[in-house]
Amino acid sequence: MSSLKKKFLIKSKDFIRAGEASIAVQNLLKSMQFDPALIRRIAICGYEGEMNAVMHGGEATMTVEIDSEKLVLIIEDSGEGIPDIDQAMQPGFSTATDEVREMGFGAGMGLPNMKKNSDGIQIQSEKGKGARVEMIFHLQKEDEAA
Ligand SMILES: Nc1ncnc2c1ncn2[C@@H]1O[C@H](COP(=O)(O)OP(=O)(O)OP(=O)(O)O)[C@@H](O)[C@H]1O
Ligand SMILES: [Mg+2]
Repeated sequence: MSSLKKKFLIKSKDFIRAGEASIAVQNLLKSMQFDPALIRRIAICGYEGEMNAVMHGGEATMTVEIDSEKLVLIIEDSGEGIPDIDQAMQPGFSTATDEVREMGFGAGMGLPNMKKNSDGIQIQSEKGKGARVEMIFHLQKEDEAA
C-alpha cells in the first residue's frame, strides 16, 4: 500500500462540532476496509485526543498517516500546553472545569485510554506552546496473529 496522509481541523471550545474529526478518520478507515477492531481502537484514541484539544487545548489538527506497516495518529494543538506530562497520564488526574464536568467529561481517563488502545503514545508539550500527541498502530499484527 502506498502511503497516505490526511489532516482534519479541530476547533477549540466548539462542543457542538467536537468529535467530527475522529468520525471523519473513522469513515476514512472504514472506506479503506480496515479491521473493525482496529478502527474501534483508533476511533477511541482519536475521540479522546480530539476532546482534549477542544476542552483543554487550542486550535488543533488531527493527522492520520498510513503506510504498509503502521498508522500514525497525531493531534496537535496550539493551546496552553501540558505542564506535567507524567501527572497528566495518571488515571483520574484532571483539570477539567466544572462546566466541562457537567457535560460528562473530566474523569481523567482520556490519556490513559489512549495509551491502552494504541501500540505506542508519545506526548510533547511546552508551556504556552500547545501539545502534540502522537499514537502509533501496527497494521500487521492482526494478520500475524491469525
Ligand atoms: N491538549 C491538552 N492541552 C492542555 N492540557 C491537556 C491536554 N490534554 C490533556 N491535558 C491535561 O491532562 C489532563 C488529563 O487528560 P485526560 O484526557 O486523561 O483527562 P480529562 O480530559 O481531564 O478527562 P476525560 O478525558 O476523562 O474526560 C487534563 O485534565 C488536562 O489537565
Ligand atoms: Mg480527556
